[in-house]
Amino acid sequence: MTPREEAAREAAALGEQLRRHAHLYYVLDAPELPDAEYDRMFQRLQALEAEHPELRKPDSPTQRVGGKALESFAKVRHKVPMLSIRTETDITPGGASAFDARVRRELGLAEDAPQVEYVCELKFDGLAVNLRYEQGVLVQAATRGDGEIGEDVTPSIRTVQQIPLRLHDQGAEIPQVVEVRGEVYMRRDDFEKLNERQREKIAAGQKNEKVFVNPRNAAAGAVRQLDPAIAAARPLSFFAYGLGEVTPADEGGPSHATQFDWLQQFHAWGFPIGPLTQRARGAIELIAFHETVARQRDALPYDIDGVVYKVDSLELQRQLGFVSREPRWAVAHKYPAQEQLTEVLGIEVQVGRTGKLTPVAKLAPVFVGGVTVTNATLHNEDEARRKDVRVGDTVIVRRAGDVIPEVVGVVPESAARPQQQRGPVFTMPQKCPVCGSDALREEGEVDYRCTGGLFCGAQRKEAILHFAARRALDIEGLGDKLVEQLVDARLIRTLPDLYKLGLTTLAGLDRMADKSAKNLVDALEASKKTTLPRFLFGLGIRHIGESTAKDLAKHFGKLDAIMDASEEQLLEVNDVGPVVAKSLRTFFEQAHNREVVEQLRACGVTWQEGEPAARAPKPLAGKTFVITGTLPTLSRDEAKDKLEAAGAKVAGSVSKKTDFLVAGAEAGSKLDKATELGVAVIDEARMLEILDNRP
Ligand code: IVH
Repeated sequence: MTPREEAAREAAALGEQLRRHAHLYYVLDAPELPDAEYDRMFQRLQALEAEHPELRKPDSPTQRVGGKALESFAKVRHKVPMLSIRTETDITPGGASAFDARVRRELGLAEDAPQVEYVCELKFDGLAVNLRYEQGVLVQAATRGDGEIGEDVTPSIRTVQQIPLRLHDQGAEIPQVVEVRGEVYMRRDDFEKLNERQREKIAAGQKNEKVFVNPRNAAAGAVRQLDPAIAAARPLSFFAYGLGEVTPADEGGPSHATQFDWLQQFHAWGFPIGPLTQRARGAIELIAFHETVARQRDALPYDIDGVVYKVDSLELQRQLGFVSREPRWAVAHKYPAQEQLTEVLGIEVQVGRTGKLTPVAKLAPVFVGGVTVTNATLHNEDEARRKDVRVGDTVIVRRAGDVIPEVVGVVPESAARPQQQRGPVFTMPQKCPVCGSDALREEGEVDYRCTGGLFCGAQRKEAILHFAARRALDIEGLGDKLVEQLVDARLIRTLPDLYKLGLTTLAGLDRMADKSAKNLVDALEASKKTTLPRFLFGLGIRHIGESTAKDLAKHFGKLDAIMDASEEQLLEVNDVGPVVAKSLRTFFEQAHNREVVEQLRACGVTWQEGEPAARAPKPLAGKTFVITGTLPTLSRDEAKDKLEAAGAKVAGSVSKKTDFLVAGAEAGSKLDKATELGVAVIDEARMLEILDNRP
């Protein structure tokens, strides 16, 4: 064999294997090879084709992203028109009966004639395409367009990994011509990832990029993308569900009598087909399908907007025929839309039980996902800003399943209005809208929180429950329901009110036996004698768990010392970092919180105070370290902990203020920067010496 023949043989074998493994991976979701092995084979084929360009066939797995960007789309006349599908107007499950009754009537079936057989499919929410294969090779892909004339989108469709560039033959004859029709769509997770990347690009100043409003839009945008390289970066998926032109059976084309058999044929050729597809007999089974899918809808990894029923027998389909551009043998039966447009009437900030501030859009009432919605979450400050929702805007509201409705985004026309015609940009309040305490957003967190934990009306119930918990003040018998009852009856507003509850008041409550009232009064009395760590933990200060409360008590000895400690002093405590210190400081800076503490003491809550502990030495206080690369024995987090325990600050990037860069293997740009700035560069061993206080 000549080297050329050898290369051709190897390339053919590689192509065969790559096609098989891509199908296992992308269509069947059952990969048999590690990704790296697939990549290796792929690169080998690329190398062979580079060396012998004549081996590079259009259906080679290397040729999904090839060619230059198009100038514009060419028009394609469909050989068989791409019909649309009639939508059943009755969206209740019973709508299926109306379709079945129509089919029976139009077929002239007597009442006692057998049930009609159907195929039930999902109605995918994407973009219909026609894929033309000649001699088994994909030669053209076109959009539906107006049903007669679509656009040639072959280059972008070739990038869809789930669409075979060559039909799998499975030993059977491949027809001379066959057109497979189906839906190009984007999975929700792929859509989220794509939008994440889009946001990064926009943040990096790329002006022409945009965030997509939903997967269907993103999919349509990717298919109608002139540059296949860009299309390839927008992950698309595909389901086959219909047939266009095909070589007739008497000229060697495949012969199938039903839609169901055609679906199996598509699958055998290498296409994904709808996973829930089912045969059904008569209206009852159609309704059952509609209901089953409704329950599974939210768990599907992609959007569907309904189901499609098709008469299974092609002969019956032919008898039924068409009205205008819609077949009489199929119908789309939709679900309540999960997205609707409505107007923003206001933007409010709500405070949750744990003090989290959430911006919420107040909406003109709209029916979406099966209920009327008037509120939709904007999640947090960053999301609200990113979506830039203003009062008066028209927005897309989404409600899927039982999740809280959310604002997806502002419709482009609304967003494009001149600034002065739109409401002001949303800003997060710096004070809690319920109690007026400072609202704080910690570094690295997305949420603002109210710091008036003990005083804030929104957090009242949660604060009392936490205070009464077994590991805090341990007030037996004061659970969920009772707290709810006491707060709702306005018997307690803040913690000290607990100790003012008398036997008569308690015994007068609904569902409260005298004995339980007595027990609770006793439990309250007993809880007054506590310990400083329990009391401190019981205040429910953010980030102050049981063990930090213990450390603080041990370090400072007295509550007043903790309340008055500066952030620097707090940082000297074991395990107290900047986040905890800041949280404590802010909490005790709120006059209301201090008042509650004083009142609790006045009610007789006491503990044994101690002496401050001897100070742990902090030899590296005031020094800033940066860690980079892979250290030989410690993980970066371990090294960071050790340095911080010795009082050092560990920063994320090198600057003039950096004292030491601890560099491990494969240190990159930080090392360059340190060298440039003249920062001392040390290794792990030297760092450990410094920690041991060795010169
Ligand atoms: S069959 C003659 N089956 O819905 C019937 N369509 O107007 C032709 N669609 O543009 C369509 N899922 O994009 C069919 N399982 C499915 C479908 C489906 C989604 C879309 C398709 C078409 C529109 C119907």
